[in-house]
Amino acid sequence: MKGSDLDLHSRGQARFVDDLPEPEGLLHAVVLPSPVAHGSIKRLDTEKARHSPRVRAVLTAADIPGTNQIGTLVADEPLLAENTVDFVGQPVAVVLADSEAAARAALALVELQTEELPAVLDPRRAQELGELIVAPRTFCLGEVEDIWEKCAVVLEGTVESGAQEHLYLETQGALALPGEWGGVRVISSTQSPTGVQRVIARILGLAMHQVEVEVTRLGGAFGGKEDQATAWAALAAFGAVSCGAAVKLVLHRHEDMVYTGKRHPYSSDYRIGVSAEGKVLAYQVEFYQNAGAAADLSPAILERTLFHCTGSYFVPNVRATAYCCRTNIAPNTAFRGFGGPQGMFVIEAALFKAAAALGVSPAELQEKNLLKEGDTFPYGMAATRCSAPICWQEAKSRYDYESTRARVDAFNRNNTLHKKGLSLMPVCFGISFTNTVLNQGAALVHVYTDGSVSVSTGAVEMGQGVKYKILEVAARVFSIDSKRVKVESTSTLRVANTSPTAASTGADLNGKATEIACQAILKRLKEVAAGELEKEDPGKVEIRQEQILYDGERTSLSWERLIPRVYTRRVNLSAQAHYATPGIYFDKTKEKGEPFSYHAYGTALCEVTVDCLRGTYEVDAVSVVHDLGPSLVPQVDLGQAEGGIVQGIGWLTLEEVLYSEQGQLTTATLSTYKVPDIYHTPKELEVHFLEDTENPLGLFHSKAIGEPPLMYGIGVYYALLAAIQAFRPEADLPVTAPMTPERVLMTLYADRLGELRGFAKKPRSKRSVSP
Ligand code: MOS
Repeated sequence: MKGSDLDLHSRGQARFVDDLPEPEGLLHAVVLPSPVAHGSIKRLDTEKARHSPRVRAVLTAADIPGTNQIGTLVADEPLLAENTVDFVGQPVAVVLADSEAAARAALALVELQTEELPAVLDPRRAQELGELIVAPRTFCLGEVEDIWEKCAVVLEGTVESGAQEHLYLETQGALALPGEWGGVRVISSTQSPTGVQRVIARILGLAMHQVEVEVTRLGGAFGGKEDQATAWAALAAFGAVSCGAAVKLVLHRHEDMVYTGKRHPYSSDYRIGVSAEGKVLAYQVEFYQNAGAAADLSPAILERTLFHCTGSYFVPNVRATAYCCRTNIAPNTAFRGFGGPQGMFVIEAALFKAAAALGVSPAELQEKNLLKEGDTFPYGMAATRCSAPICWQEAKSRYDYESTRARVDAFNRNNTLHKKGLSLMPVCFGISFTNTVLNQGAALVHVYTDGSVSVSTGAVEMGQGVKYKILEVAARVFSIDSKRVKVESTSTLRVANTSPTAASTGADLNGKATEIACQAILKRLKEVAAGELEKEDPGKVEIRQEQILYDGERTSLSWERLIPRVYTRRVNLSAQAHYATPGIYFDKTKEKGEPFSYHAYGTALCEVTVDCLRGTYEVDAVSVVHDLGPSLVPQVDLGQAEGGIVQGIGWLTLEEVLYSEQGQLTTATLSTYKVPDIYHTPKELEVHFLEDTENPLGLFHSKAIGEPPLMYGIGVYYALLAAIQAFRPEADLPVTAPMTPERVLMTLYADRLGELRGFAKKPRSKRSVSP
């Protein structure tokens, strides 16, 4: 797309924070991290570091002029540690020097002594100790207790899902420039410009209008920069204001991996009751969320887990409880899906096990319980424009489910050391921030006298393509060539009080605001055009492909001729507009409401082949039918779907985050943490969009696409489990993610591990193998 970010990316011309020209006198900031998972600070002496060559300052909590607090939902997170440190990598001090090397050299001279305190890493242990960040939440529908005895089978299980590193290509960073009147301007790699602005004002004791935050683009975010870009921007701003110099703070990859939080690991218990006919009658679940050392966004993520605890199914009796558990690892945070995937993963485990108990395929059970129009979610909302059944049936027919099933079964009968697994994965994902207040967006549109258009909104471009959708909105409303439109950087000066670009809502909220602003200008243009044409009714003026029509007839006016006339007549060519999603609410005292403007639906068919000798596997195919509605920018939507699917597969298969018993991240490099590369993407990946569905609350009837596709990755996990089940038909398989090849191997031979261990202990042969 010409003139777009894609164009710049492919030429290597897109600039990120670390690429910006360095201002005169720039200072480089590096952070002194906590070396321990939990400890009290006994001594913090910065004297030697301060006198190290080229060092300008060493700042600690004691130097903060305002309030040392960056917590968004709960005030429990200092910018710089004060009396205790609560996780490895927590910022304790920041060194500012005129070169990064000098700053790093000085780090070693800061004297930090801590007395270690016991560290808790396990969320269930934290819950036992009463270490909950917020009170537990419970969502109920019907009453599960009366139902269990009416069920043909009742099954219980425990499910573990792991963390996930965001691994955005651009690491966390910010550049801060001191301004007049003690203010500061910050270029930040954040999804939440206003969040950064608010925290900097609080840390520095400034009014928000003294802090400008600007974002041109992010090199990826995936939720990792919704809350967690703030600390680095605040440290840079703190340094800039303290030293009166520009300050840059950009984390190295290793630092980023250690210092910042990840997708929350969950440990969950479920109980499911199913009738002889295969109807799920009752479902009970307890989620233990490993929140890390501070709240960050964990309570909101926990809430989204509850909202998605029944996945794409209707269950008449539900009791779901969630615990937000404080542990001594880096605060975990938003990650594409925001707790939804963790909730959906568990009910799929329950259905998988129940299907085995009933002697049917999981798909049969899934289909019998699939959501349909009018079904009630545990939070009280009814499913409307519910396309779950259409997507399910379309996926089955379009991708020949029955013959694929037969082919896979035949393969498994004929092969001993390779097994195939097949799964269907329906996704239902609620669109809107569950925190109702955040569902607002704004836009500022200028039409310049040459007919070019500039649009600023609250949306942040992070590679997801929100810019192109907003550009398309303006071009469509005005009916002009999209080359006339430019979507600007996101700045708190041009658009105030932005919500983070998150929850898949960026295009809907800010696109709708853009639509309203453009409509307001269009109305004025039509009035002027009618006057210019000496016609009575502005309502009969229409712009079609840059031509001005009156009553359907072409006139002498074009866009390019009209705009200067509008200016000459001294009519406003700019508009600011605000959009708030109508009709949504949620009552936390009852845990009921209509929190979502709509739901996104779809179904994936997943096929894998496992090498049962080695534990290695291939994802043969992921084939999706997804209800997107009419796409605004098809390439962008397809890119989001494919990227989301692969990222979801990564979460549940390759990507394993591990900590030592001392709370040190042991997978803090790209040699120990594996994300899917081209060889790990499905050999066949097909996404078919349903385009003829209606969605009045979406942008031109389209649906949000950022997060929902990620959850198709869950299907790959259960396809792997099905393949393992084909190898060990009688086994009650544990559900633990990620399903790394190593774990596949251990699961394949779990019943023979004793034997294998015995084998390994036999004295080794003396013969050595030559290289
Ligand atoms: Mo997104 S996970 O809501 O930043």
